[in-house]
Amino acid sequence: MRFDIVTIFPGFFSGFLENGILRRALAEGLVEVAVHDLRTFTHDRHRTVDDRPFGGGEGMVLKPQPIAEALASLGIELKPVQACANPQEPQKCQGTTSVVPQEPTDNERALAHAQGAGGFSPRNERAQPPRALAPEETPNWGPRTRVILLSAQGRPFTQAMAREIAALERVVLVCGRYEGVDERINELYCDMELSIGDYVLSGGELAAAVVIDAAMRLLPGVLGNEASSEFESFGAADASIVTDVEGVPRSQHGAGGLLDYPHYTRPAEFEGLKVPEALMNGDHQAIRRWRREQQLRKTLANRPDLLEGAALSKEDRKLLDAIRREDSIQNEAE
Ligand code: 6GU
Repeated sequence: MRFDIVTIFPGFFSGFLENGILRRALAEGLVEVAVHDLRTFTHDRHRTVDDRPFGGGEGMVLKPQPIAEALASLGIELKPVQACANPQEPQKCQGTTSVVPQEPTDNERALAHAQGAGGFSPRNERAQPPRALAPEETPNWGPRTRVILLSAQGRPFTQAMAREIAALERVVLVCGRYEGVDERINELYCDMELSIGDYVLSGGELAAAVVIDAAMRLLPGVLGNEASSEFESFGAADASIVTDVEGVPRSQHGAGGLLDYPHYTRPAEFEGLKVPEALMNGDHQAIRRWRREQQLRKTLANRPDLLEGAALSKEDRKLLDAIRREDSIQNEAE
């Protein structure tokens, strides 16, 4: 799959692209990343990308024109919703379907299935290109291309979105900066506005790197071990978790929406701390049970909100109750 990043700090991404799993994935052609300097699309001497906000207030706003030109250079056109009667009032066209609905392709059906509620709205092909295009100018956007605006005002990025993105062919990431991006860019071009968490960053560059990292590692062939991305925290809440004879769901077969269990490697003792006994004697049943309990403990301690949506067995619930009782006794003692 391919990522295009539109940014005023193209240099930001060099370290990110040159290291670790992404470096290998790029070298092997499993993923492509192109970084586009927004200033290339300015036409004044100062290469101005920002301007003062209408209505006053702090800070600067990224101007729409350079971003629109950058997107045009990537073959990204206006969203079809813009084919509306009154171009002076595009907000009146939101929610109207001005393009002929098309039968979804198998890919789109699979994507719609993968995304569940609250996913991307499909970026429909525009009705008809005005003229036949030469092969070199054939637009490469299509049903499996999405334009994402990275901003603190976006919807929270999740593992489910990472999976959705990994199912796409091409994603264009527009990095916000300063106080924001002229909202018309969002309205005219973007399929989704994404945030990576409830804190304010100076720009969308870190967020773009986060999105690319989370998505690319889900692509077939990127991780050495095809299955290992499934083992970790936030793995799909999987109703079909295999339950073994003693009723212990095998967390290795999908984390079930819980946080991952703690990991240990050699030495067996470090700074006076021993590796938990349960991991040391090769009793796989005992190891599974210990890991499941640790998942529950960690999730209860750090992300109790995840327990609501997690696939929990009867055994899990009993364990959780026991842990909660243990904790409340501890709290009383303190
Ligand atoms: Cl995507 N951008 C900025 N500026 N701040 C953020 C963010 C993005 N996500 C969380 N905070």
